[in-house]
Amino acid sequence: MAATDAPPILKLGIDDALAGLVLSTEAQWNQTEDDWRVFLHEGVVFGIRDGARLVATAALLPYSGNNAWISMVLVSGKHRRRGLATRLVDACLQTARQNGLTSWLDATPDGAAVYGPLGFTPTLQLRRLKLVKPARAEAPPTSSATLDALRMRDRRATGFDRTALLSAFAQRYGSRIVAANGAIALVRDGRTARHIGPLFADDAAAALALVDAIVRSETSPLLLDAVASQGAFLDGLTSAGWTVERPFQRMRFGPATVTGEEMPFAVAGPEFG
Ligand SMILES: CC(C)(COP(=O)(O)OP(=O)(O)OC[C@H]1O[C@@H](n2cnc3c(N)ncnc32)[C@H](O)[C@@H]1OP(=O)(O)O)[C@@H](O)C(=O)NCCC(=O)NCCS
Repeated sequence: MAATDAPPILKLGIDDALAGLVLSTEAQWNQTEDDWRVFLHEGVVFGIRDGARLVATAALLPYSGNNAWISMVLVSGKHRRRGLATRLVDACLQTARQNGLTSWLDATPDGAAVYGPLGFTPTLQLRRLKLVKPARAEAPPTSSATLDALRMRDRRATGFDRTALLSAFAQRYGSRIVAANGAIALVRDGRTARHIGPLFADDAAAALALVDAIVRSETSPLLLDAVASQGAFLDGLTSAGWTVERPFQRMRFGPATVTGEEMPFAVAGPEFG
């Protein structure tokens, strides 16, 4: 397609949240309309339309310390392999460059095929795990865990100050912060499953005990994005009935800007890092 024939890249607005949700639902992702509102409100979302219909998106969410997260790279089925994702991610990278930001993302295997040639380099590996049938046997664990404690632990682990994001998650209906034995996690609603993460702990045993307490108090399917190098945690989850759905590859474009002081057991989600 000649460059002049290419459909234009548009900057999307808050009114595009539902159209974005249609795209992430087509890909069977777990994001809610609230998640789209975070990207559209706090970040920059680029999109391409076919007529009135939104058919492709990519979002850039600025984080502290000259960092940004790229996500929601989605192209509707019939519009794939025409270079739309490449153009949209390139638009995110241009915006990041103009603002002096290092870009990060968590890539699906299909996504990694797009980002590698653009110059992203791999960092850590993640595994998406699912538990289909938690059986509620108990009330939710009583916990005095605070948003402040989660925010500080998140900052120590990721190197980012994500106060705004974590506060927005915590305020949503159905969200809760739970903690026990030095472990702490956030649980929030998703479109098809509840999501556990981020989850921080001093060791795998404490992380597994906290997940177990959460599972025993939930009735919906659960998702969790574990850091692959936390081997004992992954082994414990699979022994408890969790199944690995897919890998994600964390990638970075630009100089390393942050070094976390501790490795999380589970991240906030591939779309948020
Ligand atoms: C991944 C996705 C965004 C790619 O969108 P796209 O517009 O088709 O990508 P592009 O046309 O820009 O592809 C650029 C190159 O990446 C590679 N590529 C893209 N999709 C690929 C796939 N499914 N398998 C292997 N290589 C692929 C190819 O090298 C392609 O160049 P080519 O078509 O000339 O061979 C799209 O398939 C999608 O929405 N998938 C579901 C959601 C998803 O996984 N998103 C990525 C999240 S990290």
